[in-house]
Amino acid sequence: MSARLLDGVALARRLQQDLGPRVAAFTTRHGRPPGLGIVLVGDDPASQVYVRNKVRTGQEVGFRVDLERLPATATLDEVLAVVARLNASDAHDGILVQSPLPASMGHDAEQRVFDAITVQKDVDGFSPASVGLLSQNRAAIAAGTPSGVIELLLAEGIEMAGRHAVVVGRSDIVGKPMALLLLHRNATVTICHSRTRDLPAICRQADILVAAVGRPGLVTADWVKPGATVVDVGINRVTDPEVAAALFPEGHPRLAVFRDKGSVLVGDVHPNVADVAGALTPVPGGVGPLTIAMLMRNTLTAALVRAGEPVA
Ligand code: GUN
Repeated sequence: MSARLLDGVALARRLQQDLGPRVAAFTTRHGRPPGLGIVLVGDDPASQVYVRNKVRTGQEVGFRVDLERLPATATLDEVLAVVARLNASDAHDGILVQSPLPASMGHDAEQRVFDAITVQKDVDGFSPASVGLLSQNRAAIAAGTPSGVIELLLAEGIEMAGRHAVVVGRSDIVGKPMALLLLHRNATVTICHSRTRDLPAICRQADILVAAVGRPGLVTADWVKPGATVVDVGINRVTDPEVAAALFPEGHPRLAVFRDKGSVLVGDVHPNVADVAGALTPVPGGVGPLTIAMLMRNTLTAALVRAGEPVA
């Protein structure tokens, strides 16, 4: 069997196209566009790429996007001062502080920054107040990546109610909100993590299997129930030839990419899962593009809620 590929690129494009007229109407009504403040601290290469895409996409859908850049040497107080300014700003409806912050800021810096973002402007859904609302199923905004997964499952007509969903990974950014969002769609949810016993056996019970651990090719075909839907949230850059050879058989086009460029992007799901799964998100081109699309939707939602207008 060959799994149906779930196209996140096409859905992200549709979601962004739907936003355009709604953003334009907001701008006409209020005499200003919805505003997004993005804070980038330091020069982590991956974060710079992500942030560039967020700025560009925000501008494409018609937002005002302000990028606040701070050097890697910035202090936590300096970051908190930028957040306080954006919290108080009338022009900004959404605030996003790109994660990770430089390690030199200390282990609890990120939590303190997320704590400081006012819940109405928390378009990442990372603040404790946002997480609390999500746990009670009354959040207007939830984290972008897991929200994007739900949109993809809905768009592809994949039933969640009554199905067994297994989430591998318990991060605050993906695993935990993913489990809650699936629960709110009436799935029966199991969360697995590094201490889970017999992980393959639990994964094999899944009707919907979500992998979000950041380990290239961890989930192999023998972990997957035939016909299951497999969602691959991992984006791992593989530079080790042995790892690449374990993922792709000789002659595979992605192995050629690796040999050409010296690296290849792979998910947490091994390519051989395509022989067993019923549906599968590719990497790249599956969940990744939806994270930004959902951030855009969250920013418009924040602007509407702040203006006291209906969201739908
Ligand atoms: N780093 C990786 N993903 C994300 C995200 O969705 N939001 C923020 N703020 N940082 C990230």
